Amino acid sequence: MANNAFGIDLGTSKICIYNHEKKRVFVERNMIAIENKKNVIAYGDSAYEMFEKAPDNIVVSAPLNNGVISDIKNMQDLLRLFVSEITKGNYKNSDYILSIPHDVTDVERRAFGELIEDSSMKARNVSVVEKSIACALGLNIDVKSSQGVMVVDVGYNTTEISILSFGGIVKSKLVKIGGNKFDDLIKATVRKEYNVHIGSKSAESIKMQIGDLKRAGEKGVVYGRNVASGLPVECFVDPVVMENCLKESFLTITDNVKELLESTPPEIGANIFKTGIYITGGGSLVSNLCQNVANGTGLKVNTSDNAESSVIFGIAEIIRNKKYRNLTFEV
Ligand SMILES: Nc1ncnc2c1ncn2[C@@H]1O[C@H](COP(=O)(O)OP(=O)(O)OP(=O)(O)O)[C@@H](O)[C@H]1O
Ligand SMILES: [Mg+2]
Repeated sequence: MANNAFGIDLGTSKICIYNHEKKRVFVERNMIAIENKKNVIAYGDSAYEMFEKAPDNIVVSAPLNNGVISDIKNMQDLLRLFVSEITKGNYKNSDYILSIPHDVTDVERRAFGELIEDSSMKARNVSVVEKSIACALGLNIDVKSSQGVMVVDVGYNTTEISILSFGGIVKSKLVKIGGNKFDDLIKATVRKEYNVHIGSKSAESIKMQIGDLKRAGEKGVVYGRNVASGLPVECFVDPVVMENCLKESFLTITDNVKELLESTPPEIGANIFKTGIYITGGGSLVSNLCQNVANGTGLKVNTSDNAESSVIFGIAEIIRNKKYRNLTFEV
């Protein structure tokens, strides 16, 4: 590897970049704000600050959708800006390892490589690793020798369920449910139950507080617009009502986990029974999801303290430890 090597996990909601020289992970929202269709005026967390608040001539958007690049030009710009900021412009001739989802077409897969190869970043080498393999490594699973591991990565728009064995993917399934869907359900429920229209940021904030509020026996506060009067209001929401509206989504995730297990070769299934299911990704932190998967499958569920960073921690491990290098490939 070159002196300067970068690991990149392009998530739908955030970009995680590991810089080998600084031995650090940088995390920013995967968003860009463009003024008058041409000038980048903000990116990352500062673009997210403008989200849902910007005037019409400023478009704040996410260049990745469902884990797949939907706007290659903006994604290239964003990456270059981040990497340049981290290295103070000194990033030429570096190596890059990117994580990619398993369930993508060849064209979508190639787009990840082109992101860096075709941009002005002058990379020395670009390779990719399957997201779930990196995720397992980041959860301290020795993927190369493990004979049957189930990893459930609950992300922003999707949940990727994978069964891994000997460093490869045996089976995988992409379910169109993630943290963003939970936010939408919370928004709809606050509107229905309390007649208040709230934005995505408020819904996300309430979602993250459900567990704490329930334990404290308190209500959550949101600010929004009263549906009848159209005026801004403060609204107190019951965390139990918020959690109940997510139950059906939890059930869909659990059902998909079960379906994949049912079609898994028995020897691999036996190992998963012993080790349990590994559940990770920011979306998995929502109150009671893990419990629902455990109850629904009857299996042990292993959670992680670094649910939002498992993929990037895994890529960092590949950069640091030569023995994992053959888990990557060129696109
Ligand atoms: N403490 C928390 N409680 C509930 N949800 C959380 C918590 N922290 C983060 N999330 C949710 O996790 C989701 C983002 O997850 P993650 O960071 O794994 O996605 P991503 O990697 O950007 O996207 P993807 O991998 O799906 O492309 C968001 O919807 C966010 O609201
Ligand atoms: Mg992710």
